[in-house]
Amino acid sequence: MSDEIVYINGEKFKILIPEQDIKRRVKELGEQISEDFKGSVPIFIGVLNGSVIFFADLIREVKIDCEIDFLKLSSYGDEKISSGHVKLLKDLDCQVTGRDIIVVEDIIDSGLSIKFIKNLIMLKNPKSLSIVTLLYKKNRVQIDFKIDYIGFEIGDEFVIGYGLDYAQKGRNLKAIYVIDSQK
Ligand code: IMP
Ligand code: MG
Repeated sequence: MSDEIVYINGEKFKILIPEQDIKRRVKELGEQISEDFKGSVPIFIGVLNGSVIFFADLIREVKIDCEIDFLKLSSYGDEKISSGHVKLLKDLDCQVTGRDIIVVEDIIDSGLSIKFIKNLIMLKNPKSLSIVTLLYKKNRVQIDFKIDYIGFEIGDEFVIGYGLDYAQKGRNLKAIYVIDSQK
């Protein structure tokens, strides 16, 4: 069991999605992806750093052969709102051309990062490109393409845990927490 309340960088956070709910949903996503990609060997692309925990759990729920690779972007500084700029800090090492690519994100907020990633990968001519995100801020996202697999839709709130950080802290929490404005 995870703590109900945690303090990270002096701010109070309360549980939004308990560990068991995440586990159950990640298993479902892994099973769904295994079914959808039967007969293929997809490459899962983890987006560093936020997706590492979800990524590691998700691929272990995938029952078909797969490969992995990572890319790293920067857009957020240590703040709770995006700087609005996306920069590529680490490119892919794998050969994308002709392969089924599955990008694994922790959260889609404005959609700026995933738009950037999609453009980057499409330039490399994959056979297909799918996107899986654990969290999706449905009232904030501004994109004109669909996200193939969504773990949980959440409101317009700042969340941490299970890989997601607040000024680099909180990634090691087992549940997803939301900032608690009532102090
Ligand atoms: P977007 O480009 O606005 O969609 O933001 C995507 C990235 O911002 C995510 O991959 C996260 O790293 C970060 N991010 C967005 N919302 C949150 C949040 O609520 N908590 C922590 N990180 C977030
Ligand atoms: Mg991220």
